[in-house]
Amino acid sequence: MDDLIRRAVEDLAAAKNVAALTGAGISIESGIPPFRGKGGIWERFDPMEFAHIDALMRDPAKVWRILVKEMKEIVDSAKPNDGHKGLAKLEARDKIKTIITQNIDGLHQAAGNTDVIEYHGTFAWQRCMDCNQKYETRKVDISEIPPRCECGGILRPDAVFFGEVIPAEAMWRSRQAAAGCDLMLVVGTSAVVQPAAMIPVIAKDNGARIVEINPERTPLTDEISDYLIMGGAGEVINQIVTALEKM
Ligand code: OAD
Repeated sequence: MDDLIRRAVEDLAAAKNVAALTGAGISIESGIPPFRGKGGIWERFDPMEFAHIDALMRDPAKVWRILVKEMKEIVDSAKPNDGHKGLAKLEARDKIKTIITQNIDGLHQAAGNTDVIEYHGTFAWQRCMDCNQKYETRKVDISEIPPRCECGGILRPDAVFFGEVIPAEAMWRSRQAAAGCDLMLVVGTSAVVQPAAMIPVIAKDNGARIVEINPERTPLTDEISDYLIMGGAGEVINQIVTALEKM
């Protein structure tokens, strides 16, 4: 692994425009479970029953009771870990410009990154299913499920459910960031959910180097990534940032 860390440090030092694509893996060390794999959310809940827009429309109280309430408790208390903090340090050193994240936990912004594209929306806000008014999730009273808007409508996370489209601005901006970067860090994503999984492909097609950080191989590893640094995001990013700081 040391050789690959060294290689990543050299590549980052040489790069002019770095972007990152992150997934649930970067937030595991903050106590937020991933979706797939051991201990993953979809191991306990069928996504079609709880995370599809049809399920939400059919029975919002059930989706709130089983999935959203638990997510609120976890996300409300989660703090950025070394992975998020390391990416923020890379922005502070003018290395990373944009982070495209599939995560809805807001931890990149909490760590200090300022240009974060929330590809799957955000859990920081709830919006009314009737009038679209938004409420900060932390302040939403969940003593009654589902929580309601002043207008009486039901609140839902301002996040993308299966069966919904990616917010247009996030889609457009992430394409720009992917096409414009010369190095993309792909951190903690299984790269199986579309269209997010196409983002590194767009970067690669436009000449960027793709560096994956993940303890497991993914569908990108052989075809798209230049190399995979196998390991947890916190430890790997920490090592890279520490080495860069010494240069
Ligand atoms: P997944 O849960 O599919 O994948 C998590 C990835 O993190 C896997 O590739 C793991 O190997 C890796 N991983 C595990 N521990 C790690 C660590 N310590 N450091 C780094 N990586 C680690 O999560 P996503 O790829 O983000 O969409 O999932 C994509 C989308 O599927 C989510 O945004 C969500 C979900 O359904 C929606 O809800 C729309």
